Amino acid sequence: MRLIKNSVQAEELVKRSEQDILQKIQDFFVFEIDKNVIGCVALHDMRPELPAAEMACLYVSNGHENQGVGRKLMRYVEDRAREMGMKQLFALSTRAFNYFQQKGGYVEGAAEMLPVERREKYALSGRNSKVLYKAL
Ligand SMILES: CC(C)(COP(=O)(O)OP(=O)(O)OC[C@H]1O[C@@H](n2cnc3c(N)ncnc32)[C@H](O)[C@@H]1OP(=O)(O)O)[C@@H](O)C(=O)NCCC(=O)NCCS
Repeated sequence: MRLIKNSVQAEELVKRSEQDILQKIQDFFVFEIDKNVIGCVALHDMRPELPAAEMACLYVSNGHENQGVGRKLMRYVEDRAREMGMKQLFALSTRAFNYFQQKGGYVEGAAEMLPVERREKYALSGRNSKVLYKAL
């Protein structure tokens, strides 16, 4: 929560309570350097509605940007999703859609592609994020 605080304030990342994170703690992965957490990412399973997952909460701390950590975190969850038998990965983003397209190989999709529950949450968020996806 400390790591993503500034990014949430800047509305780059969705606000998450401690409870939100704890409920899905098994979905979160962190990147450490010398035991300091400098990056994170989450992988949310969309089964059984879709054989897909959502990559979320990708963040790399300011001092460690542009060193490939974001790409490593993206690749890590992508490999995991593939191992889990997922056919697609989604990413919803307001600010980083260029990054996901250019560095992650995602393409623009539409909210209609999301499972119903996620689509409702998306509509309620009011964030006007772009929906991106990648076939695995
Ligand atoms: C976006 C973010 C995860 C990138 O992490 P990173 O570790 O710096 O990324 P990498 O080192 O893997 O990649 C750096 C490259 O991406 C480019 N890049 C960074 N942010 C970008 C953006 N928003 N749009 C397009 N390109 C971007 C850099 O210019 C650099 O390009 P180069 O390799 O051609 O020089 C990080 O900047 C971040 O945490 N941002 C704030 C949170 C956020 O917006 N998260 C996504 C929410 S969905």
